[in-house]
Amino acid sequence: TFTVSAGQLGAEIQPTMYGVFFEDINMGADGGLYAELVKNRSFEFNSPLMGWTLNGRKEEGDILVVHSTTYNKANPNYLQVKVNNRGKREFGLTNEGFRGMGIRQGTEYYLSAMFRTAAPGITVHAELLTPSGKVIGESAFEAAPTGGKWAKKEITLRATADEPAAKLTLWLEGNGMIDLDIISLFPSNTWKNRRNGLRADMVQMLADMKPGFIRFPGGCIVEGRDLANRFQWKKTIGPIENRELIINRWNTEFSHRLTPDYFQSFGLGFFEYFQLAEDIGAAPLPILNCGMACQFNTAELAPMEELQPYIQDAIDLVEFANGPATSEWGKVRAAMGHPEPFNLTMIGVGNENWGPQYIERASEFARQLKAAHPEIKLVFSSGTDPNGDRFNFLNDTLRKMKADFIDEHYYRNPEWFLSNARRYDNYPRTGSKVFAGEYAAHETKDFVGADRNTLRAAIAEAAFLTGLERNADVVQMASYAPLFANAEQWQWAPDLIWVNSMKVVPTPSYHVQKLYSLNKGTNVLPLVSGNEAVSGQDSLYASAVFDKKTNDIIVKIVNAGQQPASPKIQFQGRKSLAKKATLTTLTGDNPVGSNKFDAQPVQPVVAAINVSGNVVPLTVAPNSFTVLRIGA
Ligand code: AHR
Repeated sequence: TFTVSAGQLGAEIQPTMYGVFFEDINMGADGGLYAELVKNRSFEFNSPLMGWTLNGRKEEGDILVVHSTTYNKANPNYLQVKVNNRGKREFGLTNEGFRGMGIRQGTEYYLSAMFRTAAPGITVHAELLTPSGKVIGESAFEAAPTGGKWAKKEITLRATADEPAAKLTLWLEGNGMIDLDIISLFPSNTWKNRRNGLRADMVQMLADMKPGFIRFPGGCIVEGRDLANRFQWKKTIGPIENRELIINRWNTEFSHRLTPDYFQSFGLGFFEYFQLAEDIGAAPLPILNCGMACQFNTAELAPMEELQPYIQDAIDLVEFANGPATSEWGKVRAAMGHPEPFNLTMIGVGNENWGPQYIERASEFARQLKAAHPEIKLVFSSGTDPNGDRFNFLNDTLRKMKADFIDEHYYRNPEWFLSNARRYDNYPRTGSKVFAGEYAAHETKDFVGADRNTLRAAIAEAAFLTGLERNADVVQMASYAPLFANAEQWQWAPDLIWVNSMKVVPTPSYHVQKLYSLNKGTNVLPLVSGNEAVSGQDSLYASAVFDKKTNDIIVKIVNAGQQPASPKIQFQGRKSLAKKATLTTLTGDNPVGSNKFDAQPVQPVVAAINVSGNVVPLTVAPNSFTVLRIGA
């Protein structure tokens, strides 16, 4: 019997408690959330024609890649094309997309290109093609003379069929010379129908979770392989042609997967991240580089005397997000279409930087940021050690520095999650709060890709989360990691949501995180089993909260065992309970089963139950997570 002390409101649960962590890994941004379908649209990859093939007979000088910093320092490459009396479909360029383009019948696609030409004579004829070459959408424009300047042209193609692996060909028909750059293709049905925006189905998955915060943009990509390739927010805002592309930290050059074509176009930049946060009602939590490159790559370090630009970036970010539209950086935000502030309240300093050099740099960030913006909470990075106390010194130092949040990361096996459900029961109750910024239960390497997202792993996470929830006075934010993976190109598994060019798949872990978020309540309710705080007796884990907004008591019960169990939930301290309750159950027949594109066996099932008196008897399946919601 679990006894819920239902009249005794405990710690407040922060609105930020359950959030999401987005990083451009596994084609999360380019080829994922950012709905651009053209890979290497501005010919800036290390091999400028990567992703493109040239069609038809060609002669030397027909297609040149011009590299000109006087043209655009941030985006110096463009194509110079000689079209030599070519007829229909004789000469052109094909883009393969990000492992193919997902095209939907009936949807309109906006094709745009920057071009420059001196004389009339060239028609640009765009086609969407299936892998076997069938045309499933086309449109064309005549390139009118641009008077020596660059012009932008946009045309619309309507798709006549569904195709998960389409490509785009631009035929260049006629006679003359044309310069081309930023060849882009977006579906019209992006999130909120914003031009050149985000993939609506992927954002919807986030919105459905009602996340309390969104941590972005990483992860290791914040640090970069080296400092030159770190994430610099100022280079990710403004017109896209001025956003300087860099190689992704998860490119094959720096990681073990074959992804030589993984770059960051920054079409999804800091303005779009803030806008996304606002759209889905999540508090923005940007993480900034602290003068240290990824410790798993070069571990480059900015000397202390050269740290100021990094700190200034953080100070300027507050102005970009919150400053008046008349301020230097607020003006940039307003020019991008958002004169109102974005309500930034937190900033993360560094990611997984753990050594004494981090403490030195983090202290200087803290000193200057707190002086300039005492209203901004600072998140500092730490870690967890499964076998010892490696992080004790760092955590103690961060606590002495009065860090608002200490960001702990845990990628461990399901057993670790089960045995750490009491991790925060004895944590200091005052001072720094905990941010469980990256967590995921990892099956052994025998499970590959989406198969690692087992029900069993999700259930272990649910058990661990009972411990975070019971300790909501110290743990105030939590997010699974990584968030997205494209099944066609991923570096890291498991992940919360798998996608391909047409579909999204919520994993069992997604449902766990979402159920917690939608049932977070406002206050912890003490919950005991016998005289013991609840902590995994008989493989059962539980937590309870009260929701002041709905007047509901919410109890979460996890059965991580392999047998059904029959716990009784007893409510104390409330005169009357509602006669009906809802039970939401997440389980499945196969503990190592997972959800796939074609079948999703692990889904929450909602049922209504009758309640009499103050005891609710339950039967909970093996490997199950149950949310009981009852009016008080
Ligand atoms: O989530 C994947 C990676 O794991 C993140 O980039 C990094 O912070 C951690 O090591």
